[in-house]
Amino acid sequence: MIDNLFQKIVSLSKRRGFVFQSSEIYGGFEGFYDFGPLGVELKNNIKKAWWDEMTKNQKNIVGLDSAILMNPRVWQASGHLTAGFADELVECKKCHHRFRKDFLSKNKCPDCGGELTKPRKFNLMMKTFVGPVEDETTTTYLRAETCQGIYLNYENVLNSMRMKIPFGICQIGKSFRNEITPKNFIFRTREFEHMEMQWFCQPKTAPQFFDYWKKERLKWYLNLGIKKANLKTREIPKDELPHYAKRAVDIEYKFPFGWEEIEGIHNRGDFDLSNHSKHSGEDLRYYDPSLRSGQVKEKYFPYIIETSVGADRSFFAFLCDAYEEIKKGRTKTTKATKEIEILLKLHKKLTPIKIAVLPLVKNKPKLVKKTKEVYQMLRPYFVVQYDEVGSIGRRYRRQDEIGTCFCLTIDFESLKNNDLTVRYRDTMKQERIKIKELILFLKSNV
Ligand code: GAP
Repeated sequence: MIDNLFQKIVSLSKRRGFVFQSSEIYGGFEGFYDFGPLGVELKNNIKKAWWDEMTKNQKNIVGLDSAILMNPRVWQASGHLTAGFADELVECKKCHHRFRKDFLSKNKCPDCGGELTKPRKFNLMMKTFVGPVEDETTTTYLRAETCQGIYLNYENVLNSMRMKIPFGICQIGKSFRNEITPKNFIFRTREFEHMEMQWFCQPKTAPQFFDYWKKERLKWYLNLGIKKANLKTREIPKDELPHYAKRAVDIEYKFPFGWEEIEGIHNRGDFDLSNHSKHSGEDLRYYDPSLRSGQVKEKYFPYIIETSVGADRSFFAFLCDAYEEIKKGRTKTTKATKEIEILLKLHKKLTPIKIAVLPLVKNKPKLVKKTKEVYQMLRPYFVVQYDEVGSIGRRYRRQDEIGTCFCLTIDFESLKNNDLTVRYRDTMKQERIKIKELILFLKSNV
């Protein structure tokens, strides 16, 4: 266990351009964060790994990108405007700070010790207005989950893509929740990205698909390098189930502040399609030729198994899991390394910078020229960084700290032999490779 891992991740995120506080020069904006140059690469890689998993590795799943704002009636039908999507809020009578009741261990204000009000329900939907008039008729909401856009397009996708049950629709996009207590860095924010897949199936097959998706989703994290000991599942007790779910299992990650949910697997039954049918007047039942009884055509509401993960929250888990510290450094040969080294062992699919290209020294024009040629050669294929500042050891450590898979060093021998040294991040193994073989080597290793 690394001491103070939480603070270290927050500090690395700012120092190396992964995550910044939103509106920092104005004192910040609680519950909102910006992803810096390395953060956006990492987040894009996580989203791509999820998208590829759903649309390429799994069968019968197609993608969608629906609007953030929808007809406000959607949120009536989904149950989000009623008590279903509300947390219990208490307010301090003295300093007027507000808290989520279930986050408090004592019945006193954690900020000033003042007396708290009785809890009241607080709806988490974020309101906005569409058009030039601001009144009840133009009020709508920023979506709190992307899956509602999937239900609204269920029939469009079914018909346009000639899908047959069982099939899935997946979507990645922003969601917004007016969280009472955003906390723990990017763990609980008011704006985040959802990666959600809705699997439409016959009601009787829902339990078996639930188990299938639970296993597949666990495998996804393990395949991307998350340590098995840091992952577990939790069956949600009946009295804690979300308003739409018949059954729910959370995939939990062992964060520095304890075990917490990173993904929810839900059996939503026919809650969504039947409610949208009722509220919109459209018959969203499925006609299933395989369920013909005699000459009677059978129609039913498909059950939905949902997998729902936050891109930002899993980003945080991937960072925590990859972070390692090596006291007194890994290199035993030089003095300069006798300090704590940081190694970010991100999976090669996720790591923001794949390759760094480094001249051994920066004051030899021929070396610099050759290094820049290699850098330009690689840029169309990989996310690659050129770095000439500081000693070579320091530059290796800077790259280790952000998880770069390979450092390529051009030295004096390179000028003669047209080769370079490849240094592996995790083992520090070094080998020489011909520049003409480089792209092939990197393509098969990154
Ligand atoms: N459509 C179902 C749904 O949204 P959820 O359990 O409320 O289910 C699923 O959310 C995932 O979305 C969570 O496991 C988490 O990764 C992410 N998430 C939810 N609220 C979040 C928040 N306020 N900040 C960051 N991520 C959040």
